[in-house]
Amino acid sequence: MAKGKKVTVIGTGNFGSTVAFILAMNGTCHNIVLRGRNYDVARGKALDMSQAANAARQHTVVKAGKGPESMADSDLVVITAGAPRTPGMSRDDLLFKNAEIVKMYAKEIKEHAPESIVVVVSNPLDVMTYVVLRETGFPRERVLGMAGILDSARMAHFIFEKLEYGAGQIRATVMGGHGDTMVPLPKFTTVAGVPIEDLLDSEEIGDIVQKTRNGGAEIVNLLGDGSAYYAPAKSTLVMVEAILKDTNQIHSCAIMLQNDYGYSDIVSGVPVMIGAGGAEKVIEMALKPLQVKRFKNSVASVQEMVDTLEGQNFFDN
Ligand code: 2OP
Repeated sequence: MAKGKKVTVIGTGNFGSTVAFILAMNGTCHNIVLRGRNYDVARGKALDMSQAANAARQHTVVKAGKGPESMADSDLVVITAGAPRTPGMSRDDLLFKNAEIVKMYAKEIKEHAPESIVVVVSNPLDVMTYVVLRETGFPRERVLGMAGILDSARMAHFIFEKLEYGAGQIRATVMGGHGDTMVPLPKFTTVAGVPIEDLLDSEEIGDIVQKTRNGGAEIVNLLGDGSAYYAPAKSTLVMVEAILKDTNQIHSCAIMLQNDYGYSDIVSGVPVMIGAGGAEKVIEMALKPLQVKRFKNSVASVQEMVDTLEGQNFFDN
Protein backbone atom coordinates (compact mmCIF):
# COMPACT_ATOMS: atom_id res chain seq x y z
CA MET A 1 0.00 0.00 0.00
CA ALA A 2 1.22 3.46 -0.91
CA LYS A 3 2.00 5.52 2.20
CA GLY A 4 0.97 9.11 2.69
CA LYS A 5 -0.51 9.58 -0.76
CA LYS A 6 -3.12 12.22 -1.47
CA VAL A 7 -5.73 11.95 -4.21
CA THR A 8 -8.14 14.72 -5.18
CA VAL A 9 -11.36 13.69 -6.88
CA ILE A 10 -13.06 16.51 -8.75
CA GLY A 11 -16.78 15.96 -9.14
CA THR A 12 -19.18 14.67 -6.50
CA GLY A 13 -21.67 13.03 -8.82
CA ASN A 14 -22.17 9.28 -9.02
CA PHE A 15 -18.89 8.74 -10.84
CA GLY A 16 -16.65 10.88 -8.63
CA SER A 17 -18.29 9.63 -5.45
CA THR A 18 -17.88 6.01 -6.46
CA VAL A 19 -14.19 6.58 -7.33
CA ALA A 20 -13.60 8.16 -3.91
CA PHE A 21 -15.59 5.46 -2.14
CA ILE A 22 -13.64 2.57 -3.69
CA LEU A 23 -10.37 4.38 -2.94
CA ALA A 24 -11.42 4.75 0.70
CA MET A 25 -12.61 1.15 0.97
CA ASN A 26 -9.37 -0.18 -0.49
CA GLY A 27 -7.15 2.08 1.62
CA THR A 28 -5.29 2.93 -1.57
CA CYS A 29 -4.17 6.32 -0.26
CA HIS A 30 -4.08 8.21 3.04
CA ASN A 31 -5.99 11.32 2.04
CA ILE A 32 -8.81 11.95 -0.37
CA VAL A 33 -10.12 15.41 -1.15
CA LEU A 34 -13.55 15.49 -2.70
CA ARG A 35 -14.32 18.66 -4.64
CA GLY A 36 -17.55 19.64 -6.30
CA ARG A 37 -19.71 22.60 -7.11
CA ASN A 38 -21.77 22.17 -3.96
CA TYR A 39 -19.49 22.27 -0.92
CA ASP A 40 -22.12 20.95 1.50
CA VAL A 41 -22.77 17.92 -0.69
CA ALA A 42 -19.00 17.31 -0.85
CA ARG A 43 -18.83 17.64 2.95
CA GLY A 44 -21.71 15.25 3.46
CA LYS A 45 -20.25 12.63 1.14
CA ALA A 46 -16.76 13.06 2.62
CA LEU A 47 -18.09 12.52 6.14
CA ASP A 48 -20.09 9.47 5.04
CA MET A 49 -17.04 7.96 3.31
CA SER A 50 -14.68 8.67 6.20
CA GLN A 51 -17.12 6.88 8.48
CA ALA A 52 -17.34 4.00 5.99
CA ALA A 53 -13.52 3.83 6.01
CA ASN A 54 -13.66 3.40 9.78
CA ALA A 55 -16.24 0.65 9.40
CA ALA A 56 -13.87 -0.99 6.89
CA ARG A 57 -10.97 -0.59 9.36
CA GLN A 58 -9.16 1.56 6.83
CA HIS A 59 -6.97 4.54 7.60
CA THR A 60 -8.07 6.69 4.67
CA VAL A 61 -9.41 10.13 5.55
CA VAL A 62 -11.85 11.79 3.17
CA LYS A 63 -12.32 15.56 3.29
CA ALA A 64 -14.28 18.03 1.24
CA GLY A 65 -12.21 20.58 -0.63
CA LYS A 66 -13.59 24.10 -0.55
CA GLY A 67 -11.36 25.99 -2.94
CA PRO A 68 -8.58 25.06 -5.36
CA GLU A 69 -6.01 25.34 -2.55
CA SER A 70 -7.45 22.11 -1.13
CA MET A 71 -5.69 20.26 -4.00
CA ALA A 72 -2.22 21.31 -2.82
CA ASP A 73 0.28 18.44 -2.60
CA SER A 74 -2.00 15.99 -4.40
CA ASP A 75 -0.09 13.11 -5.92
CA LEU A 76 -2.97 12.42 -8.21
CA VAL A 77 -6.07 14.30 -9.37
CA VAL A 78 -9.04 12.55 -10.97
CA ILE A 79 -11.31 14.82 -13.02
CA THR A 80 -14.85 13.47 -13.27
CA ALA A 81 -16.56 16.87 -13.41
CA GLY A 82 -18.98 17.72 -16.18
CA ALA A 83 -22.39 16.75 -17.44
CA PRO A 84 -23.06 13.10 -18.15
CA ARG A 85 -24.89 11.90 -21.23
CA THR A 86 -28.64 11.50 -21.24
CA PRO A 87 -30.62 9.27 -23.64
CA GLY A 88 -30.16 10.22 -27.27
CA MET A 89 -26.89 12.07 -26.68
CA SER A 90 -23.48 10.97 -27.89
CA ARG A 91 -20.46 11.66 -25.72
CA ASP A 92 -19.43 14.25 -28.32
CA ASP A 93 -22.58 16.28 -27.68
CA LEU A 94 -21.05 17.28 -24.34
CA LEU A 95 -18.06 18.94 -26.01
CA PHE A 96 -18.49 22.65 -25.30
CA LYS A 97 -20.16 22.40 -21.93
CA ASN A 98 -17.61 20.03 -20.46
CA ALA A 99 -14.59 21.59 -22.17
CA GLU A 100 -15.22 24.85 -20.26
CA ILE A 101 -15.56 23.03 -16.94
CA VAL A 102 -12.49 20.87 -17.52
CA LYS A 103 -10.41 23.87 -18.66
CA MET A 104 -11.23 25.70 -15.44
CA TYR A 105 -10.11 22.76 -13.31
CA ALA A 106 -7.01 22.21 -15.44
CA LYS A 107 -5.89 25.77 -14.68
CA GLU A 108 -6.46 25.23 -10.98
CA ILE A 109 -4.46 22.00 -11.06
CA LYS A 110 -1.61 23.74 -12.85
CA GLU A 111 -1.45 26.34 -10.10
CA HIS A 112 -2.21 24.28 -6.99
CA ALA A 113 -1.08 20.74 -7.78
CA PRO A 114 1.70 21.30 -10.33
CA GLU A 115 3.45 18.00 -9.61
CA SER A 116 0.36 15.81 -9.77
CA ILE A 117 -0.58 13.12 -12.24
CA VAL A 118 -4.02 13.76 -13.73
CA VAL A 119 -6.51 11.06 -14.70
CA VAL A 120 -9.32 12.44 -16.84
CA VAL A 121 -12.68 10.72 -17.11
CA SER A 122 -15.02 13.54 -18.21
CA ASN A 123 -16.53 13.14 -21.68
CA PRO A 124 -15.85 13.35 -24.55
CA LEU A 125 -12.90 11.67 -22.92
CA ASP A 126 -10.10 11.97 -25.44
CA VAL A 127 -10.79 15.64 -26.12
CA MET A 128 -11.05 16.43 -22.41
CA THR A 129 -7.66 14.76 -21.90
CA TYR A 130 -6.31 16.96 -24.68
CA VAL A 131 -7.80 20.06 -23.00
CA VAL A 132 -6.05 19.18 -19.71
CA LEU A 133 -2.75 18.66 -21.51
CA ARG A 134 -2.99 22.00 -23.26
CA GLU A 135 -4.17 24.02 -20.29
CA THR A 136 -1.80 22.54 -17.70
CA GLY A 137 1.18 22.26 -20.03
CA PHE A 138 2.05 19.05 -18.13
CA PRO A 139 4.14 16.44 -19.96
CA ARG A 140 2.11 13.69 -21.56
CA GLU A 141 3.34 11.19 -18.96
CA ARG A 142 1.27 13.00 -16.33
CA VAL A 143 -2.08 13.36 -18.11
CA LEU A 144 -3.99 10.19 -18.91
CA GLY A 145 -7.57 9.51 -19.88
CA MET A 146 -9.49 6.52 -18.57
CA ALA A 147 -11.54 4.60 -21.06
CA GLY A 148 -9.73 1.66 -22.60
CA ILE A 149 -9.93 -0.31 -19.36
CA LEU A 150 -13.67 0.32 -19.20
CA ASP A 151 -14.27 -0.53 -22.84
CA SER A 152 -12.16 -3.69 -22.45
CA ALA A 153 -14.15 -4.69 -19.36
CA ARG A 154 -17.37 -4.22 -21.29
CA MET A 155 -16.05 -6.34 -24.14
CA ALA A 156 -15.02 -9.05 -21.64
CA HIS A 157 -18.53 -8.96 -20.20
CA PHE A 158 -20.15 -9.43 -23.62
CA ILE A 159 -17.78 -12.30 -24.41
CA PHE A 160 -18.78 -13.98 -21.16
CA GLU A 161 -22.46 -13.45 -21.99
CA LYS A 162 -21.92 -15.32 -25.25
CA LEU A 163 -19.68 -18.09 -23.93
CA GLU A 164 -21.20 -18.52 -20.47
CA TYR A 165 -17.80 -19.46 -19.09
CA GLY A 166 -14.45 -17.90 -18.40
CA ALA A 167 -15.67 -15.04 -16.16
CA GLY A 168 -12.66 -13.21 -14.77
CA GLN A 169 -10.34 -14.91 -17.26
CA ILE A 170 -11.21 -12.82 -20.28
CA ARG A 171 -8.57 -10.33 -21.40
CA ALA A 172 -10.09 -8.02 -24.00
CA THR A 173 -8.30 -5.17 -25.77
CA VAL A 174 -9.91 -1.98 -27.05
CA MET A 175 -7.98 0.87 -28.66
CA GLY A 176 -8.88 4.27 -30.08
CA GLY A 177 -11.10 7.00 -28.74
CA HIS A 178 -13.81 6.43 -26.15
CA GLY A 179 -16.61 7.05 -28.61
CA ASP A 180 -18.62 5.41 -31.33
CA THR A 181 -15.41 4.90 -33.32
CA MET A 182 -13.58 2.92 -30.61
CA VAL A 183 -11.61 -0.07 -31.90
CA PRO A 184 -12.25 -3.38 -30.11
CA LEU A 185 -9.47 -5.83 -31.03
CA PRO A 186 -10.64 -9.48 -31.11
CA LYS A 187 -7.17 -10.43 -32.39
CA PHE A 188 -5.71 -9.39 -29.02
CA THR A 189 -8.49 -10.90 -26.92
CA THR A 190 -8.20 -14.20 -25.08
CA VAL A 191 -9.95 -16.39 -22.53
CA ALA A 192 -7.35 -17.94 -20.22
CA GLY A 193 -4.86 -17.51 -23.05
CA VAL A 194 -7.13 -19.04 -25.73
CA PRO A 195 -7.79 -16.60 -28.62
CA ILE A 196 -11.52 -15.80 -28.88
CA GLU A 197 -11.24 -16.43 -32.61
CA ASP A 198 -10.87 -20.13 -31.61
CA LEU A 199 -13.99 -20.00 -29.44
CA LEU A 200 -16.48 -17.88 -31.37
CA ASP A 201 -17.34 -17.45 -35.05
CA SER A 202 -16.94 -14.16 -36.89
CA GLU A 203 -20.63 -13.26 -36.65
CA GLU A 204 -20.60 -13.74 -32.88
CA ILE A 205 -17.43 -11.68 -32.59
CA GLY A 206 -18.93 -8.93 -34.76
CA ASP A 207 -21.92 -8.84 -32.45
CA ILE A 208 -19.65 -8.49 -29.40
CA VAL A 209 -17.71 -5.67 -31.06
CA GLN A 210 -20.94 -3.79 -31.76
CA LYS A 211 -22.25 -4.31 -28.23
CA THR A 212 -18.95 -3.04 -26.83
CA ARG A 213 -19.18 0.16 -28.88
CA ASN A 214 -22.72 0.61 -27.63
CA GLY A 215 -21.95 -0.45 -24.05
CA GLY A 216 -22.16 3.02 -22.50
CA ALA A 217 -25.26 4.08 -24.46
CA GLU A 218 -27.12 0.91 -23.42
CA ILE A 219 -26.73 1.89 -19.76
CA VAL A 220 -27.53 5.58 -20.43
CA ASN A 221 -30.83 4.48 -22.01
CA LEU A 222 -31.71 2.24 -19.09
CA LEU A 223 -30.83 4.75 -16.37
CA GLY A 224 -32.68 7.56 -18.11
CA ASP A 225 -30.94 10.44 -16.35
CA GLY A 226 -27.21 9.81 -16.39
CA SER A 227 -24.49 7.44 -17.43
CA ALA A 228 -22.78 4.38 -16.00
CA TYR A 229 -20.53 4.74 -12.99
CA TYR A 230 -19.67 1.44 -11.31
CA ALA A 231 -17.56 0.01 -14.14
CA PRO A 232 -16.17 3.46 -15.04
CA ALA A 233 -15.18 4.07 -11.40
CA LYS A 234 -13.58 0.65 -10.96
CA SER A 235 -11.69 1.11 -14.24
CA THR A 236 -10.42 4.48 -12.97
CA LEU A 237 -9.23 2.76 -9.81
CA VAL A 238 -7.20 0.30 -11.87
CA MET A 239 -5.25 3.26 -13.25
CA VAL A 240 -4.97 5.09 -9.92
CA GLU A 241 -3.66 1.97 -8.19
CA ALA A 242 -1.21 1.23 -11.01
CA ILE A 243 0.24 4.72 -10.48
CA LEU A 244 0.23 4.80 -6.67
CA LYS A 245 1.59 1.26 -6.39
CA ASP A 246 4.03 1.71 -9.29
CA THR A 247 2.93 -1.57 -10.86
CA ASN A 248 4.38 -1.00 -14.36
CA GLN A 249 1.40 -2.90 -15.76
CA ILE A 250 0.00 -2.36 -19.22
CA HIS A 251 -3.46 -0.85 -19.59
CA SER A 252 -5.26 0.74 -22.48
CA CYS A 253 -5.39 4.50 -21.73
CA ALA A 254 -5.92 7.74 -23.59
CA ILE A 255 -2.63 9.56 -24.01
CA MET A 256 -1.13 12.26 -26.22
CA LEU A 257 0.42 10.38 -29.12
CA GLN A 258 3.94 11.44 -30.00
CA ASN A 259 5.18 9.42 -32.94
CA ASP A 260 3.08 6.49 -31.76
CA TYR A 261 1.14 4.40 -34.27
CA GLY A 262 2.03 7.09 -36.82
CA TYR A 263 0.35 10.01 -35.01
CA SER A 264 1.50 13.02 -33.00
CA ASP A 265 -0.18 15.80 -31.02
CA ILE A 266 -3.54 14.09 -30.70
CA VAL A 267 -5.00 11.99 -27.89
CA SER A 268 -6.24 8.46 -28.40
CA GLY A 269 -6.40 5.17 -26.54
CA VAL A 270 -3.41 2.83 -26.81
CA PRO A 271 -1.73 0.31 -24.49
CA VAL A 272 0.41 2.14 -21.96
CA MET A 273 2.73 0.89 -19.23
CA ILE A 274 1.69 2.72 -16.07
CA GLY A 275 3.84 3.31 -13.01
CA ALA A 276 4.76 5.92 -10.43
CA GLY A 277 5.63 8.46 -13.12
CA GLY A 278 2.29 8.01 -14.89
CA ALA A 279 2.55 6.80 -18.47
CA GLU A 280 6.01 5.31 -18.57
CA LYS A 281 5.87 3.78 -22.04
CA VAL A 282 3.51 3.47 -24.97
CA ILE A 283 3.34 -0.07 -26.28
CA GLU A 284 3.06 -0.50 -30.05
CA MET A 285 1.17 -3.55 -31.32
CA ALA A 286 1.33 -4.81 -34.88
CA LEU A 287 -2.14 -4.03 -36.24
CA LYS A 288 -3.87 -5.60 -39.23
CA PRO A 289 -4.77 -3.22 -42.11
CA LEU A 290 -8.44 -3.09 -41.09
CA GLN A 291 -7.48 -2.21 -37.52
CA VAL A 292 -5.12 0.48 -38.79
CA LYS A 293 -8.01 1.95 -40.80
CA ARG A 294 -10.39 1.90 -37.86
CA PHE A 295 -7.81 3.46 -35.57
CA LYS A 296 -7.31 6.20 -38.17
CA ASN A 297 -11.07 6.93 -38.19
CA SER A 298 -11.10 7.06 -34.44
CA VAL A 299 -8.15 9.47 -34.25
CA ALA A 300 -9.80 11.62 -36.95
CA SER A 301 -13.00 11.93 -34.93
CA VAL A 302 -11.05 13.23 -31.91
CA GLN A 303 -9.07 15.58 -34.17
CA GLU A 304 -12.31 16.96 -35.57
CA MET A 305 -13.51 17.96 -32.10
CA VAL A 306 -10.14 19.49 -31.20
CA ASP A 307 -10.32 21.47 -34.46
CA THR A 308 -13.82 22.64 -33.54
CA LEU A 309 -12.49 23.97 -30.23
CA GLU A 310 -9.50 25.58 -31.98
CA GLY A 311 -11.92 27.20 -34.45
CA GLN A 312 -13.67 28.88 -31.51
CA ASN A 313 -10.35 30.07 -30.02
CA PHE A 314 -11.14 27.94 -27.00
CA PHE A 315 -7.58 27.29 -25.79
CA ASP A 316 -5.80 29.82 -23.62
CA ASN A 317 -2.50 27.99 -23.89
C1 2OP B 1 -19.35 5.34 -20.24
O1 2OP B 1 -18.96 4.87 -21.29
C2 2OP B 1 -19.33 7.31 -18.71
O2 2OP B 1 -18.31 7.37 -20.85
C3 2OP B 1 -18.67 6.59 -19.77
O3 2OP B 1 -20.21 4.82 -19.54
